[in-house]
Amino acid sequence: MNEEHLAEAKSLLTAFPGKSSALIPILHLVEDEFGYIPQEEVEVVAGLMGVTAAYVEAVLSFYTLFHRQPTGKYLIQVCRGLSCHLNAADHLAHFLYEELGVQRGGTTDDGLFTVEEVECLALCKDAPVVQVNLAYRPRASEEQLKGLIEESRRGVAQHA
Ligand code: FES
Repeated sequence: MNEEHLAEAKSLLTAFPGKSSALIPILHLVEDEFGYIPQEEVEVVAGLMGVTAAYVEAVLSFYTLFHRQPTGKYLIQVCRGLSCHLNAADHLAHFLYEELGVQRGGTTDDGLFTVEEVECLALCKDAPVVQVNLAYRPRASEEQLKGLIEESRRGVAQHA
């Protein structure tokens, strides 16, 4: 962790009645900084918290918001919860896999896109829901996703 995040992590440890309540916010700091949770940082966080690395890894394995490998610049998460499933979210996921040439959880060779399927994104009334980085795409469609992919590629090309 960089110095700013380390200071924030230490302050989080005293902000809650129990140290363990600070684990998730501290892991968010790490994810924000690196884009994933590197193994060395698991050790750092465990040391800060006074728990084992295995404990931190167990928590990490439960939450889809945390990643153990680097992801693409655009992390596309397709909800596979019941409402989204009933509204053809699996077709959207397969559309993305074909369009981007990746498998579930995979990242494109250019490092631009990662596609994941995740549990309920808590916007069930607007199913099917896709989340790109932290922005919701309610009532998502293949056309919208195609446009998003093209826009993202153009945006990256313009800034290259
Ligand atoms: S089931 Fe997809 S947002 Fe809840």
